[in-house]
Amino acid sequence: AKNVGILAIEIYFPPTCIQQEVLEAHDGASKGKYTIGLGQDCMAFCSEVEDVISMSLTAVSSLLEKYGVDPKQIGRLEVGSETVIDKSKSIKTFLMQIFEETGNTDIEGVDSTNACYGGTAALFNCVNWVESSSWDGRYGLVVCTDSAVYAEGPARPTGGAAAIAMLIGPDAPIAFESKLRASHMSHAYDFYKPNLASEYPVVDGKLSQTCYLMALDSCYKRFCAKYEKFEGKQFSVSDASYFVFHSPYNKLVQKSFARLLFNDYLRDASSMNDSAKEKFAPYATLTGDESYQSRDLEKAAQQVSKPFYDAKVQPGTLIPKQVGNMYTASLYAAFASVLHNKCSSLAGQRVVMFSYGSGLSATMFSFKLGEGQHPFSLSNIAAIMKIDEKLKARREVPPEKFIEIMKLMEHRYGGKDFVTSKDCSFLSPGTYYLTEVDSMYRRFYAKK
Ligand code: ACO
Repeated sequence: AKNVGILAIEIYFPPTCIQQEVLEAHDGASKGKYTIGLGQDCMAFCSEVEDVISMSLTAVSSLLEKYGVDPKQIGRLEVGSETVIDKSKSIKTFLMQIFEETGNTDIEGVDSTNACYGGTAALFNCVNWVESSSWDGRYGLVVCTDSAVYAEGPARPTGGAAAIAMLIGPDAPIAFESKLRASHMSHAYDFYKPNLASEYPVVDGKLSQTCYLMALDSCYKRFCAKYEKFEGKQFSVSDASYFVFHSPYNKLVQKSFARLLFNDYLRDASSMNDSAKEKFAPYATLTGDESYQSRDLEKAAQQVSKPFYDAKVQPGTLIPKQVGNMYTASLYAAFASVLHNKCSSLAGQRVVMFSYGSGLSATMFSFKLGEGQHPFSLSNIAAIMKIDEKLKARREVPPEKFIEIMKLMEHRYGGKDFVTSKDCSFLSPGTYYLTEVDSMYRRFYAKK
């Protein structure tokens, strides 16, 4: 199989959301902390009728229907998620309901979990399968689904929720440059979920930021080295049209891209102009550790990177800024934002992706884009995702209501024997929702 990659994408996020400006005022944070400090506009969250299973059911059924893919044509289904609803039964098995109806139970794959990285692991599993000798000619399907919720405190505004489904096969408009994958994996306690009775993570915010940037540096160095080995020339940020990052909040994405330019400077990339070199010069001899702590370097790097950021990164920030951290779905929602904003000018372009999951696992990889053929074309993917429409159709809730829902969800987490509210008026037709968890903890869903 040639040009294996993503043929089709569908994204779903809950219509319930809260404006960051409103949350900021309510939390008594200084004005601008969430909007400018974190760089976030709005945050989506699941109300009591939605969860990672309902969102993924919605994304998968909508993808199959809108692209006209027969469920029998799916041979592998992989789910990435870090939202634990059941310690044994995979989310993938819930999704089998869609396929069983058509008699297709011959579908490999289960769930992959490691913080925000599980979606990338799932994606690689599908791509590897299509490229392998056990491939039977059918499509792979990857689903990233998460509900990111934090306890009250500084991390709460960095929540979010979404599910994204991606169809995998050969001759894709979004093709992997498989030789260019570069990973960095190590042991860290930056963000983890040891308390199985709670949906909330334990998070060392500052450490998680440093771990993210260290993993980024390490992946970028290896990515550049592989590029040079295979292409016989140096790589710098000018060799890709877009850089897409896992986005816990936008400020970290700004800092990450700035860091790539600092890396280019340290490697003495020919693309660096003199004024950029001058700005970076004072920091050339910092040790790695010092460089993560230096506020001056951070400022200089952001100055140097600003014009490149606007062209190469900003087009991928729409959904992450509007929806929040979607954990496993975050990176792919950022990529979907690029497709949405730039679909008519993407053919022939390279996109570099950076996936990070705390704990930690990280990979940098790249796509080569081509227009593709209907229904699997870039323009059709952008049209089907209807991102503007979905963002506009949302229902903003006041902070009091948001907190009330968070409390109810805390209470319901791991619970049984309840039925959910009958009010689903805010969900659009075709959306799956949770109706009941019975006395045996069995979950039941309906489709609106
Ligand atoms: N106007 C403008 N900017 C402001 C204001 C204001 N009024 N007040 C603060 N800021 C800036 C700060 O200067 C800071 O920016 P900087 O980093 O460029 O200096 C930013 O807003 C955040 O302020 P902090 O005081 O650093 O925020 P705090 O420590 O309260 O929390 C954090 C931020 C650590 C990101 C927290 O939200 C968190 O723990 N989130 C979850 C962990 C996370 O997402 N980690 C990322 C990688 S791991 C993962 O993906 C889950």
